[in-house]
Amino acid sequence: MNNTKVILTGDRPTGKLHLGHYVGSLRQRVALQHTHQQYILIADLQGLTDNGNTPQKVSNHILEVMADYLATGIDPEKTTLCLQSALPALAELTMLYMNIVTVARVERNPTVKSEIAQKGFSRALPVGFMAYPISQAADITAFQAELVPAGDDQQPMIEQTNEIVRKMNSLTDKPILRHCEALLSQTGRLPGIDGGAKMSKSLGNTLTLSASEDEIHLAVSAMYTDPNHLRVNDPGQIQGNVVFSYLDAFHPCKEKVAAMKAHYARGGLGDRICKNELEECLQALIAPIRTRRAEFIQDKATLLSLLRQGSERAMAVSQQTLYDVKRGLGLPVMF
Ligand code: TRP
Repeated sequence: MNNTKVILTGDRPTGKLHLGHYVGSLRQRVALQHTHQQYILIADLQGLTDNGNTPQKVSNHILEVMADYLATGIDPEKTTLCLQSALPALAELTMLYMNIVTVARVERNPTVKSEIAQKGFSRALPVGFMAYPISQAADITAFQAELVPAGDDQQPMIEQTNEIVRKMNSLTDKPILRHCEALLSQTGRLPGIDGGAKMSKSLGNTLTLSASEDEIHLAVSAMYTDPNHLRVNDPGQIQGNVVFSYLDAFHPCKEKVAAMKAHYARGGLGDRICKNELEECLQALIAPIRTRRAEFIQDKATLLSLLRQGSERAMAVSQQTLYDVKRGLGLPVMF
């Protein structure tokens, strides 16, 4: 390992992982595990912040997400896979950090703001949901993570985490917490298959990593292109055309995609041909993931035991940070 920077990343287990996760962080994590010390947190507590009344939705997806990780190539020997609810230090750090973050500050977090609007919470906003960036700061700092591979919507979480780090470190005689940095994926955010800005389970515009051949075919067929590209010979729009966004994200040959874009823009290249090219890429990407995933999900005992082993390692690291913070604040550490 030539670079031992610590990475923390994670996902809420509220559904199977989809191509948005794959592009936004999964494929990057698979590469990073060879050169970094990586932790992946299954953030079930964070999942509960907007599923308080349907906890089964979260608990049912913990092993599903484990299977997604393993099927995409996360190696539990290299990456520590751990469960948020199994690590009490994360909850305790959250409690401590809550006292140094103002309500005004969490209200200003643009990601949380847009999620609140999208979910239509209004006055029914759960306290836990409002506070989830603080809990995410606890996750990141508990592992002393320096790098957080995440989609661009997570950038405000990193900023908020660093504010907490600065503030906490100013309260203790020597700095205890480490600052962190986002590691954004090169391709950026993947739009939904409907042309929506983001692929998201709650918007129903996803393609999961376990999608069947038919589902992939249907999704690509229904994919949003240029609504004004009525005849093949008409010039077509690339901007906002989901098929091209996906070709950018998934096609192995950049030159080919560039040539297709030029041809489409000047007219003469039909949507069907572009979609066929894309479908071929997606079928080739997802088929092996789907097969491996089906094997893993059959053996829940093994999935659970891998998660327990990872969580044990994560427990030791996160407890140490909690102890250091408590000591730094002058709280008696009794146990
Ligand atoms: N917020 C992330 C998501 O929506 C999940 C998450 C929880 C996370 N804790 C984290 C990501 C810490 C990175 C680091 O999926």
